Amino acid sequence: METHLDSFWIFALLFKCNSLPSHHNTVSLFLFLFLFLCMTWLALALCFWAYPGGPAWGNYWLKKGCKSKLVPGPRGFPVLGSMNLMANLAHHKLATAANLFNAKRLMAFSMGETRFLITCNPVVAKEILNSSVFADRPVKESAYGLMFNRAIGFAPYGVYWRTLRRIAATHLFCPKQISSTEAQRKDIGSQMVSLIACHRGDIRVRDILKKASLNNMMCSVFGRRYELGSSNTETERLRELVEEGYELLGKLNWSDHLPWLASLDLQKIRFRCSQMVPKVNRFVNQIIQEHKARSNGQRRQDFVDVLLSLQGPEKLSDQDMVAVLWEMIFRGTDTVSVLIEWILARMVLHSDIQAKVHHELDHIVGRSRPLMESDIQSMVYLQAVVKEVLRLHPPGPLLSWARLAITDTTVDGYEVPEGTVAMVNMWAITRDPEVWMDPLKFWPERFVCKDGGGVDMEFSVLGSDLRLAPFGSGRRTCPGKALGLATVSFWVGSLLHEFEWVKSSNRAVDLSEVLRLSCEMANPLSVKVRPRRGC
Ligand code: HEM
Repeated sequence: METHLDSFWIFALLFKCNSLPSHHNTVSLFLFLFLFLCMTWLALALCFWAYPGGPAWGNYWLKKGCKSKLVPGPRGFPVLGSMNLMANLAHHKLATAANLFNAKRLMAFSMGETRFLITCNPVVAKEILNSSVFADRPVKESAYGLMFNRAIGFAPYGVYWRTLRRIAATHLFCPKQISSTEAQRKDIGSQMVSLIACHRGDIRVRDILKKASLNNMMCSVFGRRYELGSSNTETERLRELVEEGYELLGKLNWSDHLPWLASLDLQKIRFRCSQMVPKVNRFVNQIIQEHKARSNGQRRQDFVDVLLSLQGPEKLSDQDMVAVLWEMIFRGTDTVSVLIEWILARMVLHSDIQAKVHHELDHIVGRSRPLMESDIQSMVYLQAVVKEVLRLHPPGPLLSWARLAITDTTVDGYEVPEGTVAMVNMWAITRDPEVWMDPLKFWPERFVCKDGGGVDMEFSVLGSDLRLAPFGSGRRTCPGKALGLATVSFWVGSLLHEFEWVKSSNRAVDLSEVLRLSCEMANPLSVKVRPRRGC
């Protein structure tokens, strides 16, 4: 793409070269070549950038030759594309861009050299998530650095990943395994209640929820039991590792999209991963060895025991076990505590709705006894509250991790090449007035009564209806969703059964968000409680 201006410069330089002595000629020739290459690169970068969706899309279509209509979307900047869209509150920015480009069904954008697609439409979301083509995850340096490519979430689509999913479905998250940990959830729930009851004045619930959630996963995964009120070095060490891992995995890594930057490790992500992995290995390996040393008769049935008992093609190496167990701790801890904090915040803000949950608790459980997990299935309104919070505050507004096209395919009638990354903006879908009536209104009744704009009472949030699928859908859907929902519903039910939750006198409830690996409250919830059950 040489312009007249480019030709003028080239001739001027050649002329200059000819009129200089020979060593100057060599320098000038290099200079000329360098300038020529720069200009060619710049011209190409501008050509790529001119395509809808920006440079990564332009690079593909210009080489391939475009025969079909192109997906609309922002060009962003030359070379970099729309990196800015994925910083901070990416789900807000992407929803705004989709509106701006009239591309709510499907929008293309570039992150450096990576082609992205995103949808804010439930029908297109279903097409993507349930397609066998989008069964892979894009490569993320930090995920590989933290060994997650050997765990379920980032294992490439194939035999190994299918084996892990089968193990998860039949052994780790089957109804029998979930109900076998009911007593543990009850115990940790009671410890939370006691801890909160002892507090005078304002309580920052996040600290308690995070610790409870980590203790719960430590117990399910490693069989370790800890008191919530006391601190110990083992959970402290693990908590630090989990926090560091969240930060590394949640960070936008430029090297993932600009491979020519990779060797520089500018954000020190590779370095930090390499520092962290030996610590994780030491920690988890020690627990595996302790389990192996125990005689069979002494075995409880935590995840380590389950994995050690596998035989034949399902048997995992110690290193793979470390990755799988580490991922369980990692995924199961923050999603649950983040969601409960949002639910409690909404209960404090909407005291009339909290009163309705209390009324249901009094009616079904009564104040004479604590809540039991078996009560939850009768508590229609409490379940509606959980669904309504998942709708307005999904912990993964962009469904946490994106999907990668394994082969060329079509989405919503558009040609989509292999290697394209696809995402679903669940946050935008759940706030779309064309999908949900009065979408910004916190109104759990929409899940109780179909009349007046609600949905069926049986509405499932587990992935069959993409109007609200906070756990994703299709082959890569969240394997821990039943466990996650059971834990959240029971703990929230217990906390509401035991206490009335009221505003703190010093701090208003602030619903601002911050998007890390999950979308959390930017300002931790600070509240007061009033005991309800004869304390
Ligand atoms: C409120 C709780 C939870 C929420 C909102 C949640 C949400 C999600 C989402 C949105 C995905 C991506 C799904 C997709 O690509 O379609 C996911 C994947 C995953 N989740 Fe969860 N999750 C929760 C709890 C848990 C728990 C308790 C565990 C395990 C202990 C877990 C383990 C995983 C794993 C291993 C994957 C990767 C699946 C794969 O790639 O095959 N999650 N989760």
